[in-house]
Amino acid sequence: MGDGLTVLGIETSCDETAVAVVSERPVPTIRANLIRSQLVEHAPYGGVVPEIAARAHLDHLDDLVARALAEADCDLSDLDGVAAASGPGLIGGLIVGSTVAKGLAWASGKPFLAVNHLEAHALAVRLAQPVAFPYLLLLASGGHSQLLVCTGIGRHRQLGTSRDDAAGEAFDKTAKLLGLGYPGGPAIAQAALSGNPRRFPLPRPLKGRPGCDFSFSGLKTAVRQAVAAAGELDAELTADLAAAVEMAICDTLVDRTANALRWFRQHHPEGTTLVAAGGVAANTRLRARLAVLAAEMGLDFVAPPPVLCTDNGAMIAWAGLERLRRGLTDALDAPVRPRWPLDPSDDGAAARPAGRPT
Ligand code: KG4
Ligand code: ZN
Repeated sequence: MGDGLTVLGIETSCDETAVAVVSERPVPTIRANLIRSQLVEHAPYGGVVPEIAARAHLDHLDDLVARALAEADCDLSDLDGVAAASGPGLIGGLIVGSTVAKGLAWASGKPFLAVNHLEAHALAVRLAQPVAFPYLLLLASGGHSQLLVCTGIGRHRQLGTSRDDAAGEAFDKTAKLLGLGYPGGPAIAQAALSGNPRRFPLPRPLKGRPGCDFSFSGLKTAVRQAVAAAGELDAELTADLAAAVEMAICDTLVDRTANALRWFRQHHPEGTTLVAAGGVAANTRLRARLAVLAAEMGLDFVAPPPVLCTDNGAMIAWAGLERLRRGLTDALDAPVRPRWPLDPSDDGAAARPAGRPT
């Protein structure tokens, strides 16, 4: 496959089965990027059921791999490595994805790459365009809200994290309260288009305080109370509440990111870029706000295209490729890791090693 590396990547850490093939030459290229959502399977239960997720990954993965290879116009012998998200995530899905990847790696005699799903989000931007280390990363997804300094592959230092719900979780839970369905982020963003964000003054926990941690649970409670007080939700009320939620979450994310940026500029004066990643980074308003913030601080702002922000196989393949070209391959008995923090010293928001924002 030319003289650059080509890697197949498998994502099965939550409720999306995704397979992609990515090549690095002449420029990083997505040759195939297939995704099958499990929305239908989980809808009757109002949330992701781990056993159902694992079963659905198992049922559809082989077919997706075959289709991705066909679309990329390659076979196993053309690959240089096979990557799978090996954590963090739901253990059943992780086992399915990494076992299939290991089987393909063994059958083709190519290296296996155990990818950290969070690192895949962190590196996805480099698949879309050249971004040099170090960069400050706002990683906001359904399971995680973190501010990190990314200084290299496998080298990420956490400046702050959520003390309760993740930003995406806040979107999903408030959307549920508003009867807007799942996933909540896009549903809230859509409903918010016609809403007045100032009608309901929702809380912005920790805003204006020092440090880079987040908190979103107060927001959920305030929305629940507003819905109860309203009695019945009509379209206007729903739009106004959705707009207020979107603005409150964006305000909080931007405020904490501003603190992290100040720290980043001071400690990494060579760094030039603020990056946003994870499903919430697909949000148009958030992207616009972060672009303004970065410009105010004299930095560039970049985020991957929305399709590379939400969970996908291309980011797993790309993170695998970045590891492979540094020789960071894994053995076929590499374990899956349901808990796998990006920063090994991350033992919860309460404990902060010296030198990080307090
Ligand atoms: O990264 P992701 O696909 O999965 C995890 O690793 O968690 O993120 C999913 C999250 C969901 O909470 C979803 O509501 C949120 O990302 N999301 C959005 C948007 N698109 C997805 N949140 C706000 N605005 C969006 N446009
Ligand atoms: Zn994710």
